Amino acid sequence: MKIAIAGYGYVGKAVEAYLQHTGATTKIVDPEYYRILGKDLTCGLKVSDTNADGVIICVNTPQAENGECDISNVIDVLGDTHAEKPVLIKSTISLEGWKQIKEIFPSHTISFSPEFIRADTAIEDMLNTKTIYIGGGHYYFWERVFQRTTKLSKIIHAKPEELILAKYFRNSFLATKVAFFNQIYDLCEATNIDFSKVSTLITEDSRIGQSHTEVTTERGFGGHCFPKDTQAIIKTAHREGVDLSLLREAIRYNNNIRKGTT
Ligand SMILES: NC(=O)c1ccc[n+]([C@@H]2O[C@H](COP(=O)([O-])OP(=O)(O)OC[C@H]3O[C@@H](n4cnc5c(N)ncnc54)[C@H](O)[C@@H]3O)[C@@H](O)[C@H]2O)c1
Repeated sequence: MKIAIAGYGYVGKAVEAYLQHTGATTKIVDPEYYRILGKDLTCGLKVSDTNADGVIICVNTPQAENGECDISNVIDVLGDTHAEKPVLIKSTISLEGWKQIKEIFPSHTISFSPEFIRADTAIEDMLNTKTIYIGGGHYYFWERVFQRTTKLSKIIHAKPEELILAKYFRNSFLATKVAFFNQIYDLCEATNIDFSKVSTLITEDSRIGQSHTEVTTERGFGGHCFPKDTQAIIKTAHREGVDLSLLREAIRYNNNIRKGTT
């Protein structure tokens, strides 16, 4: 089985590492990757050149100027992919992005599988994947590709729209949790009470847990995904006439306390 990986950043590299354990061969499609290697940019850059059995899209989907999720890189790759090839989107896309993709590429068979790895430990996280979430057309093809590892114990099916919201709200919940603990920190500072002790006492409750409770020197949340994903879901909700006011406040507070650019 030959799989083209379009987008060779954190997620693309992690997917490649995973596929190395499945017996699949991979072909990387990423102009930036070839530029770094110093290779001829005109060869081997397109998905259509790879003759792969399937395509996994791991390109970046940055925040557009208006705050929405910019899926133009995903559209570029799909535009260069034959309609009969199974495609799996691992990039984070919005509900409106998914709708647009289906409208532009009605004959393509596209599955979506949200990715939950962390940038700092992307390959390790991917190799330890226990559950894959997948929906859309041809998902059985991707099940065959991904199933062949010892760690993976569960494949959960859902509609792409459900998976898209699950991805955004996992990140939004964790970002809000970071903001919440930063406000606990603010009160501890104001009252001269030891935040780390208070935090430990709170997170002793296993329902709350310790993840995303650390208050860093940069303060608040940042990184590759939380800022853009929280903004994007606010935009989606706004389009639908829903005000995610708790999340909006978490973002507003975060923008006030966050030091640096990310
Ligand atoms: N970084 C993470 O931890 C993480 C976790 C979960 C989900 N995601 C999502 O996965 C996607 C990829 O994230 P990332 O952090 O790996 O991005 P990244 O910026 O590290 O890498 C993206 C790569 O895609 C390439 N690219 C852009 N357009 C392309 C095109 N048309 N054809 C081929 N290659 C192209 C870029 O050159 C770049 O190397 C994003 O949607 C992100 O939100 C990221």
